[in-house]
Amino acid sequence: VRADGTIPLRELWAETARVVGDRHRARWLCETAAGCDGAEFLESLDDPVTERMVAHLDAMLARLRDGEPLQYVLGSWGFRRLSLLVDRRVLIPRPETETVVDHALAALRARPRPWRVADLGTGSGAIGLAIADEVWHDGLQVWLTDASADALDVARANLAGVGRAASAVRVAQGSWYEALPSDLGGSFDLIVSNPPYIAVDDDRVEPIVREWEPGGALFAADEGLAAVREIVAGATTWLAPGGTLVVEIGTDQRVVALAAANSAGLIDSRIERDPAGHDRVLVARRAA
Ligand SMILES: C[S@@+](CC[C@H](N)C(=O)[O-])C[C@H]1O[C@@H](n2cnc3c(N)ncnc32)[C@H](O)[C@@H]1O
Repeated sequence: VRADGTIPLRELWAETARVVGDRHRARWLCETAAGCDGAEFLESLDDPVTERMVAHLDAMLARLRDGEPLQYVLGSWGFRRLSLLVDRRVLIPRPETETVVDHALAALRARPRPWRVADLGTGSGAIGLAIADEVWHDGLQVWLTDASADALDVARANLAGVGRAASAVRVAQGSWYEALPSDLGGSFDLIVSNPPYIAVDDDRVEPIVREWEPGGALFAADEGLAAVREIVAGATTWLAPGGTLVVEIGTDQRVVALAAANSAGLIDSRIERDPAGHDRVLVARRAA
């Protein structure tokens, strides 16, 4: 505390780090409380902390003490170039899903523009909005769908974060392909999805995930495979000739996912790994 009674932001950060035991987490919390980040945060370290900032920080620390995930407490989380609003209505975007976007973009780049894309089960909008943000062009169409109206509210709120690329985005509610207008059948250059793929009784799911994240975003029937199977089965109906399906899968679902792709009549099926080296992404194509 300074002679004039004020506390510099740097001191609030140090104190928060003592409380949460981690300087990086403490920085994210202080950035959120201060309403600035990056270079702006570092330039403000000598500025006095306001009462509002302390109240906000205290509220966040109380939620962390209750066991809530840091990302929900902060209210936003990074995914590729975007900072996405996240709360309990949506899954927290995971780093391995960034790999899904890499394969989706690689497939798109092999095709003539403009592209039509569907992100099925979009949640926060992570995959579809990252694609719109990174490859926006005239005529691009990115459909964000979800069965959850709550999730789509979050995805809509995140539209603001992609600037003019928002003009490419369409939002539609419904179960998998049912959300899409039927006249778009056979016209998608890319169908991409990170569906729920965990078996309901999988005891490897961390308690904090099971307790806080939406069950409908995590778990699927049929040992976790029901959604993957449905998405794969419908792909040839919705993809344009030569279009690509990219689906995130569980690390032990490789064989079933490839078999499903083959029986759906898709070709060139393969499984790609995530940065941790786990089988994670099914990539397959509709014949040209
Ligand atoms: C694993 S989360 C993925 C969220 C986001 N795409 C991401 O990667 O962070 C799965 C999403 O699928 C949605 N979902 C579950 N069942 C669905 C269905 N039958 N039709 C459409 N979306 C569904 C959930 O609401 C959830 O948002």
